[in-house]
Amino acid sequence: MYVCICNAIRETDFRAAARRFAGDAEAVYKALGRPPQCRQCLDEADEILAEEAIEVGMAISAAA
Ligand code: FES
Repeated sequence: MYVCICNAIRETDFRAAARRFAGDAEAVYKALGRPPQCRQCLDEADEILAEEAIEVGMAISAAA
């Protein structure tokens, strides 16, 4: 599934990038070298970032 049609960013690629780069969806897109165009996907992308932040937080808690 694609998160961003304009930039052909797949959800799996975006989730991996979310763990490597800080910031909101726009910042992650820019880090990937694909800045937003129509911007219609940014709300959903930000939700995915929030999900990944929870996953990372849970992993850190489990390791502690
Ligand atoms: S669908 Fe992501 S910028 Fe257009």
